[in-house]
Amino acid sequence: MKVLMVAGARPNFMKIAPIYRAAQAIADLDCRVVHTGQHYDHAMSQAFFEDLDLPQPDYALAAGSGSHAVQTAKIMVAFEQVCMTEHPDLVMVVGDVNSTLACSIVAKKLQIQVAHVEAGLRSFDIAMPEEVNRLVTDVISDLFFVTEASAAANLMKEGKAAERIHLVGNVMVDNLYHHARSLAEEPHLSFPTAGLKKAAGDYVFLTLHRPANVDQPDIFATVAEALNTIAEERVILFPVHPRTRKMLQQHGIGLSARIKRLPPLGFREALFLWQDAAVVLTDSGGLQEETTALGVPCVTLRENTERPITVSMGTNVLAGTSRQGIIDCYRQAIADRPRPARVPPYWDGLSAQRIWQVLRPGNQE
Ligand code: UD1
Repeated sequence: MKVLMVAGARPNFMKIAPIYRAAQAIADLDCRVVHTGQHYDHAMSQAFFEDLDLPQPDYALAAGSGSHAVQTAKIMVAFEQVCMTEHPDLVMVVGDVNSTLACSIVAKKLQIQVAHVEAGLRSFDIAMPEEVNRLVTDVISDLFFVTEASAAANLMKEGKAAERIHLVGNVMVDNLYHHARSLAEEPHLSFPTAGLKKAAGDYVFLTLHRPANVDQPDIFATVAEALNTIAEERVILFPVHPRTRKMLQQHGIGLSARIKRLPPLGFREALFLWQDAAVVLTDSGGLQEETTALGVPCVTLRENTERPITVSMGTNVLAGTSRQGIIDCYRQAIADRPRPARVPPYWDGLSAQRIWQVLRPGNQE
């Protein structure tokens, strides 16, 4: 069996790493990695391959940035060539980025089976580019690997047959546990931010990059006001995404000196910081899940989440993007510490193995 595994943007790399690792134990499986090049800065891309022990991709398509149409089109043209050279039995796409959408369409039009990992999640907010990507990918995928029961229910409502839906848990959490364990075993860490972490004491960790939060100057300014107020109470460690860096400058947003701006961090260094944070403030999808898996309080700076189990079972609360809403949720999260959280079913570090059990039953060595 030949599988092409697609990754393009930062969160994809964390998802394919455990699936690739698990594939190495399976006989007669030829698993190749295609990097679309949606993310290309060293810190957004190559650093993750090094950090996550991923091999260099078999194909690097170098699609780069652009409007959604330009980026998606470039990925499609390049990936079609790969499919026509490789003739895979299956294309595996993960998550909800433009690379996920582009490659699933290409594969399906070539009549290649498509498996979508992290299928079925819905924010029901069609203004989010990721929601469009999720919906379109799921319309044409053949197999759905889901992280939570709500995703399976969404797919069933959309008419997908139950036998094509597999609740396998969360490969992002596989990756997280793998690295949390290895970080715990390495007491002498030399990350550049180690000194800052120590000096910061009881700090907050922040990520912010959603277009809905940073592209509109008035919304970004309101969020920044809330962050500046929170920074009066606790230092905030803030690795800045390239989109956000651009928008900070473009909109002339003022941030407190107690918000320590950092370059984008590799997976392990980011984990080293957020796992010990008083609270994580974020608009990322992955961090909502990862904080739940490690029981770290999380305040999500969005009105909705496509990952409702992180709220119903985990440590996540939805703050929205109003100044007072963010401050109130942050203070509540601090007051509630430690918030008892349950880890969702199958978020146990074995999700990648479950995926291969479905795809290659009886073929694990
Ligand atoms: C993309 C995903 C988003 C994911 C995020 C994680 C889509 C629609 N969005 O958003 O779901 O949460 O990745 O990071 O697929 N840039 C660089 N260097 C890079 C990559 C991007 O400087 O390596 C800059 C470019 O100016 C680009 C901007 O960041 O225009 C946005 O990049 P893009 O890939 O379009 O979307 P993200 O905001 O990164």
